[in-house]
Formats: sequence, C-alpha cells, structure tokens
Amino acid sequence: MARMSADVARHEDPTVHAFMAADAPAQVQILRGWGMADAVTLILNNACENRCFFCANAGVTSVPRSELTPWDRIARHLDGRPQGVTTLLIGGNEPALHPDFERALAHAHAVGFTHIELMTSGLQLSAEQVSRWTAWGLAVVAVPIYAAQAALHDAVCGTRCFDRLVDGLDRAHAAGVRVELHTLALKRTVHDMAALADMARDRWSARLAIAPLRDKASLFSYAAESLSPDELAALLSAMPPHVSLVGMPACVDPSRARGSAQVMDIYFRTQLRQYAPVCDGCGLQERCPGVVAARLATWGEAGLARPGATT
Ligand SMILES: C[S@@+](CC[C@H](N)C(=O)[O-])C[C@H]1O[C@@H](n2cnc3c(N)ncnc32)[C@H](O)[C@@H]1O
Repeated sequence: MARMSADVARHEDPTVHAFMAADAPAQVQILRGWGMADAVTLILNNACENRCFFCANAGVTSVPRSELTPWDRIARHLDGRPQGVTTLLIGGNEPALHPDFERALAHAHAVGFTHIELMTSGLQLSAEQVSRWTAWGLAVVAVPIYAAQAALHDAVCGTRCFDRLVDGLDRAHAAGVRVELHTLALKRTVHDMAALADMARDRWSARLAIAPLRDKASLFSYAAESLSPDELAALLSAMPPHVSLVGMPACVDPSRARGSAQVMDIYFRTQLRQYAPVCDGCGLQERCPGVVAARLATWGEAGLARPGATT
C-alpha cells in the first residue's frame, strides 16, 4: 500500500492499485471478488517515521506536501460508504501521522463506520490517542513487529522504536483494541521468532502472521536478507500453531492457518506474484496468492510443490 511511484509497476500488482484507486462501492465489489468481507479502504499518503531497511525509499520517508492525500479526497471517499458497510480499513505509509488522520476518524464515525481497522507502525498509540480513536470506532490495529528483542527490532526499523511500540500495544490491548501482528521472514530475525510469537500471544493475545520479504528496487539484497526455502521450512516446522502465514504460497506449510488483519491480507496482495511451472494444474492455485517474484528469481521452484506430488 505504498504510494504510487515510478517503480511500482516493477514490484506491485496492478489490480491492487486499481482497488486503491476505486471509489468505496467499487472497492466493496472487488473485495467480494477476492472472497473478502465487505469493507471500504482509505489510503492515506504521507511520510513514515520508521526507516525499515526493506521499505524506506524516498517515496516513503519524505512525502512532499503536494502529495499528501488531500482532505477533500478523504471526505469524498468516506462519504461514499455503501449502505450496510460499516467496516473501514485505513492504510498507507503511516496513516496515523497524516495531518488529517483524526479528522478522518471523526468523519468516518459521523458517516456510519463503526469498525475501524488501522495499519500502523504502532508508534502513535499514546493514552490520549487510544482513548479518542476508540471513541471514533478504532477496533483493530495491524502492526509489524520484527523481534522480541528491542535492539533487533530497532535495527530492522532503523529507529529506536521498540519500547514505544510495546507501550502503545499495551495501551491498545488494555483499551479493548484487537492487536494483529505480522513479521517478515528475515535471516536477521529468524532466531528470535519463536520468542516473538509467544510474546504476541502472552502479552497482547495477538496472533503473529509471518509474511514473505519482497524485493524493493535496489534498497537491499534480497538473497542476503530473505530466508531461503529450506530456512523457511525449518522455521515453520519449529513455529507454534498460533502463528499464521500471510502472502505465502499455499503449498508452503499448507496445514498452517492463513491470514492476518484484513488490511494486511490486502496489503500482501500488492507483491508482484508469479507462478512456477510446478504450479501448473495445482489444486491449491485458486486460493494461492502466488510466489513473490524475487523468490522465484533467486531460488526458482525450490520449496514449492503440487499437493500429492513427490518433491
Ligand atoms: C508499508 S508499511 C505501512 C504501515 C506502517 N507504517 C508500518 O510500518 O507498518 C506496511 C507493511 O509493509 C511491509 N513491507 C514494507 N516493505 C516490504 C517489503 N520489501 N517486503 C515485504 N513487506 C514489506 C511491512 O512489514 C509493513 O508492516
């Protein structure tokens, strides 16, 4: 859900951009086509304060004023709420830092959205903000967390943010906001992931979803940072059952639960997907999100299999 930029076409799925550009009623229809629950999605474009090594290009970290999502577009989108649709998903680079974020929440509440799901870095969850936002209908926060150890998480994010994140999640959880966490399958954090899954469950009653890293222009080395298929298989075989997958091919650990917060399920459709020759005729393809292009380019078909086929 990063903003549209020159390199979008290289690594993101154009159908998702059509979704993001659609008006509220058309979005509901597209979600139905994807087998997802009715919802309107508001994308707010503005700068993020984190500097995650796999994400932080100039389009994410420094958004000029002229490219901030303007208020009239926000209001028009919210005013288009189809009758009976009460869920609003909010995404973007860092929606909670958009100058009109609170105005948007208040407006959403006024026009009839009663269930709001927010994609956020989780760094703005002060007591006052959680209190105001829940009064306007905030029900779910969809937040990335990369490690249970502060220093490791902070190194991924390129900022000192772990302690603030944990405090904010504590406040959101205490206020009755559902916490949905996701992390990426990274070489640098793999050793900490079981501890992270337990922390998610024990501290915030949260599910942890693991998502694939995708290539992003020349920001980092995909092969050096992403788990190989063998490393991913080893990780998943050691993960407790309360860990789910999002954005992973359906044949990867097929018995494990899929899904995260709805806004993240949509987000992880934005990766440019491909299918390998081994996927031809695969019975799982209808519910498979495909394979991240960089994985196929780096490791080919390794770790992918048609159900029933011997690998
Ligand atoms: C673009 S951010 C926006 C929301 C918020 N500011 C945040 O930090 O999560 C949404 C999610 O995109 C994921 N993401 C960003 N770059 C990625 C990449 N190269 N590969 C896989 N996931 C990525 C991160 O896990 C992040 O949680």
